[in-house]
Amino acid sequence: MNWETIDNQAKEWVKEAGERIRSSFHKTLTIHTKSNPNDLVTEMDQEIEQFFVKKIKGSYPDHKIIGEEGFGDQLKTLEGIVWMIDPIDGTMNFVHQQRNFAISLAVYEGGMGKIGIIYDVVHDEMYHAISGKGAYINNQPIPALHERTVKESIIALNATWVIENPRIDYQLLSSLAKDARGTRSYGTAALELVYVATGRVDAYVSMRLSPWDYAAGAILVEELGGLVTNLRGEKLDFLSKDSVFAAKPGLHQEILDKYLKSGNW
Ligand code: IPD
Ligand code: CA
Ligand code: CA
Repeated sequence: MNWETIDNQAKEWVKEAGERIRSSFHKTLTIHTKSNPNDLVTEMDQEIEQFFVKKIKGSYPDHKIIGEEGFGDQLKTLEGIVWMIDPIDGTMNFVHQQRNFAISLAVYEGGMGKIGIIYDVVHDEMYHAISGKGAYINNQPIPALHERTVKESIIALNATWVIENPRIDYQLLSSLAKDARGTRSYGTAALELVYVATGRVDAYVSMRLSPWDYAAGAILVEELGGLVTNLRGEKLDFLSKDSVFAAKPGLHQEILDKYLKSGNW
């Protein structure tokens, strides 16, 4: 398989999709809710996923697709080549802020990450990695990650889990938040993983994400020597929802040992 050809083609599609999203900014969008009143979806999420499905099926009819909005395939295994699409990661930000969202596209073969692309539409920043061939921002190599201790780290996590959460193991996250140099929450898993890959934050911790949220980001982080697991420190399987914990290796171990290990995640 020529991954570079697929990567170049996919980046062109992502650019075109980004242009469509930017040109939607002056339109009034119809907003619906999905699983709960805060789980938003717009016609742009659906239109962009359909755009990718059409492109992928047109060029690669035997490839499979897992997409958040349901226009892909219903898969029970990751055999063969599988594309994982989040047309807009950070829809709440897209709706409320018109920034802090991204397109996330990944290609896996037999469950192994091959291509990860995340496009920060508003900043026109294209992050991409081909497994074993480095990770790039707008085609410039991203430097290797440097280790940090918890005390020197900025941790990306969502404050709503740590504030007055009655569950005892969530207090482990409060301790982590208190011990770290700082915490941040951006509301987009794809960009938060990009921030781990680029060293803008040192770790990212999140509950219950779906494969399309982290499929591309995991490839970018791992390509730069970081680790991406669930909160129990186990490998992610990319077929089911899971918690996600990404960090550089030494910090990953320190956080697992001191904070996460005794939690029931
Ligand atoms: C959401 C974002 C958010 C995460 C949510 C995801 P969406 O994706 O990644 O950061 O906390 O769990 O569902 O719905 O905006 O694509
Ligand atoms: Ca998402
Ligand atoms: Ca989405």
